[in-house]
Amino acid sequence: MGPLDGKIALVTGASRGIGRATALRLGAQGAMVAVHYANSKASAEEVVAEIGRSGSSAFAVQADLADPRGAWTLMEALDAELAKRTGETNFDILVNNAGTGKRAVIEDVSEDDFDRMMNVDLRSPFFLIKLASARLRDGGRIVNVSSMGTRAAFPEMAAYAPFKAGLEALTLLLAQHLGPRGITVNAVLPGATATDMHPGAKDPEQSKTIAMTIALGRVGQPQDIADVIAFLASDAARWVTAQRIDTSGGQRL
Ligand SMILES: NC(=O)c1ccc[n+]([C@@H]2O[C@H](COP(=O)([O-])OP(=O)(O)OC[C@H]3O[C@@H](n4cnc5c(N)ncnc54)[C@H](OP(=O)(O)O)[C@@H]3O)[C@@H](O)[C@H]2O)c1
Repeated sequence: MGPLDGKIALVTGASRGIGRATALRLGAQGAMVAVHYANSKASAEEVVAEIGRSGSSAFAVQADLADPRGAWTLMEALDAELAKRTGETNFDILVNNAGTGKRAVIEDVSEDDFDRMMNVDLRSPFFLIKLASARLRDGGRIVNVSSMGTRAAFPEMAAYAPFKAGLEALTLLLAQHLGPRGITVNAVLPGATATDMHPGAKDPEQSKTIAMTIALGRVGQPQDIADVIAFLASDAARWVTAQRIDTSGGQRL
């Protein structure tokens, strides 16, 4: 018996990085996990298989969230898979993790870059929550993956950070809106974390330099973030909502 037995979770961007670690963690705690991906089908299927080996069930769902219709594509795929497996389309935990970022100062952000980041980092999470709210059971959980780039100035995050800040504003107002249903809405704010999105944090030499800006003296690993998301998804966090939880190890304090 795991603490999330009987719960169903959708983790976006679960093929790699923080989303992968989160899907594995939720699966290990007993949840059935929908492993969303955009392009990395084989990696998503590996995550599904690993969750299966841990004794929980999982399946993959594909959607390009840079596409303005991506949220609808994803929800249609999820509905179909859940109906097949459970006879209904309700679920319990939504982790809006999929994200994209191009490091560029404002002078170097093209309209295409802006639109792509807006779609993946804000528009799609917004409409996914809109579509999910009718399907989330009372007592459900929404966790939005933001960035500590919303509380410290990183000029090279000119387009990315404002969309993450929008996601945090949404987190606050939705906590109020969905609170009467016992649904909590929180955001986590990773700092430099060793994933494909942050090659510097994966590089042994560069990560040492970055670690000098982090109170706990190292860069983050995907599991560091996944553990906090799993806590927010659990019953132990039932009294925590509307929070922006810094998961950066104390970067740029
Ligand atoms: N790593 C960091 O230092 C850091 C710091 C602060 C915040 N974050 C945030 O943490 C979250 C996870 O990032 P990560 O570092 O784990 O990144 P990652 O390893 O690059 O993984 C990104 C995930 O998002 C998915 N994704 C990317 N573009 C997509 C699109 N157009 N449509 C649908 N899915 C898409 C990818 O799917 P495919 O594999 O199928 O492409 C992948 O599963 C993001 O929201 C990011 O902004 C990361």
